[in-house]
Amino acid sequence: MKTIKCSPLLAMLLGFIIVAVAISTISVEGRNHHVKNIKPKHHRHSKNIPTGSPAPAPYPSTDEAIFDIRSFGAKGDGVSDDSEALVGAWKAACKVAGGKVEIPAGKEFMVKPVTLQGPCKEETLVQIEGTLVALEKVGSWPKSSLFQWLNFKLVSHVTIQGSGTLDGRGSNWWNLDTYQTQKKNKYIPPMKPTALRFYRSDNVTVRDISIVNSPLCHLKFDNSDGVKVNNITISSPANSPNTDGIHLQNTRNVEIQHSNIACGDDCVSIQTGSSNVHIHHINCGPGHGISIGGLGKDKSVACVSDIVVEDIYIQNTLAGVRIKTWQGGLGVVKNLTFSNIQVTDVQIPIEINQYYCGKSNKCKNQTRAVSISGIKYSNIVGSFTVHPVRIECSNNVPCMDVELMDIRLKPSRGLQTHQQQQALCWNSYGKTQEPLVPSSIGYCLKKSKTGGYYPKSFITSSHDKTCPS
Ligand SMILES: *[C@@H]1O[C@H](CO)[C@@H](O)[C@H](O)[C@H]1NC(C)=O
Ligand SMILES: *[C@@H]1O[C@H](CO)[C@@H](O)[C@H](O)[C@H]1NC(C)=O
Ligand SMILES: *[C@@H]1O[C@H](CO)[C@@H](O)[C@H](O)[C@H]1NC(C)=O
Ligand SMILES: *[C@@H]1O[C@H](CO)[C@@H](O)[C@H](O)[C@H]1NC(C)=O
Repeated sequence: MKTIKCSPLLAMLLGFIIVAVAISTISVEGRNHHVKNIKPKHHRHSKNIPTGSPAPAPYPSTDEAIFDIRSFGAKGDGVSDDSEALVGAWKAACKVAGGKVEIPAGKEFMVKPVTLQGPCKEETLVQIEGTLVALEKVGSWPKSSLFQWLNFKLVSHVTIQGSGTLDGRGSNWWNLDTYQTQKKNKYIPPMKPTALRFYRSDNVTVRDISIVNSPLCHLKFDNSDGVKVNNITISSPANSPNTDGIHLQNTRNVEIQHSNIACGDDCVSIQTGSSNVHIHHINCGPGHGISIGGLGKDKSVACVSDIVVEDIYIQNTLAGVRIKTWQGGLGVVKNLTFSNIQVTDVQIPIEINQYYCGKSNKCKNQTRAVSISGIKYSNIVGSFTVHPVRIECSNNVPCMDVELMDIRLKPSRGLQTHQQQQALCWNSYGKTQEPLVPSSIGYCLKKSKTGGYYPKSFITSSHDKTCPS
């Protein structure tokens, strides 16, 4: 299945469709949603409309809680700087209960890097029907704002929704990686911006929108709690470097569902401090698959637990589901479940790599490692292009309680017969359950000696102390 790329043409088409239907439907839906959120003591005219009366007029709205960015001076011509207007509309919406920022359809708003800060009065809604575009030239990005483009900070109960698009216009950033471009440019920024970031935020929802062509990661949550992502589209080319789809770090209680992610790096990347994450009904690819890590870089402590990844379709990626850790790290990865995963032309569908070394190959083996335990794989089926299963655990800290159940992986058509088609496991313990294809998966893991007993030295209680339980 191909994920829709958001070409300018498509954006225009979307624009026309939106213009056509928005007037009669979308604004009504938005208003209904808004009505649900407001406090009873606030009397808004929209509450008093009897059922059956004509829909309230769309823009210009008379509702005091709706803040159309055009009312704050936004031009929406794709060229004028509409940053101040966006910030102004945000500040106004943030001040009232149930405030709503409206980014209207059929227009393109150019916005520089901005921070939309909380806390807000109550729930806040950002309705994106049009397109927000980032600065096109790398050199015109303010040097002090390279972390991200749109930054929601210290917000809670914020929802971003709508059929609109955030376009990071990253192509100039991707090209910076090529040597030719580096020679030509005098100034190469030390980092590339993430498109949409939530920082230290709680109970946030991102739904329905498209995020395309980010310079770096498309959607990032860090130091946050309570995240829902639903029905979004992320799209950038397969060869755009480091363009992760969704990135989680120090973020708990997350649900990511019913979304299409096509990018040049991990579809979803889960980093340290993340727990209770549920990812389901995702189309992933092209890209690098769904990844935990790299964890434990530079001897750091990594803690990741209670992750469920299920009902996923992955195609044309580097890995399917993988865990990668650096040598020398500390901490724990535990209780992860990967189930009902369909893969097509995936290089390595099931991968644990405790010798991860980034792009260099200069890493030394060390005695310490992030410990990995309680990793369950079930009903993972489809085709691979390099290895079906590759589980390489650290020499001193083996992987424990790995389960491989109902795994059926066939080489993709056209795979060279000399390529390694057997399952590969190193220093990992656990159990398997048929059906298993290829059958080498059945003898890949070492069996624990007697039910659940592992050599004492393997028990990683000292590591556990470094992570919150
Ligand atoms: C987030 O939402 C949950 C469930 O509605 C609630 O229990 C929790 O207190 C909320 N957190 C914040 C910071 O509002
Ligand atoms: C998903 O988002 C699109 C807009 O991008 C919208 O038209 C559609 O109704 C949404 N689907 C669901 C199930 O909410
Ligand atoms: C493992 O994670 C799942 C999903 O988050 C959770 O429901 C379950 O309680 C966890 N199990 C343990 C033993 O912590
Ligand atoms: C590290 O250990 C692994 C597994 O024993 C081995 O294959 C690899 O060659 C070692 N790497 C180095 C750099 O010693």
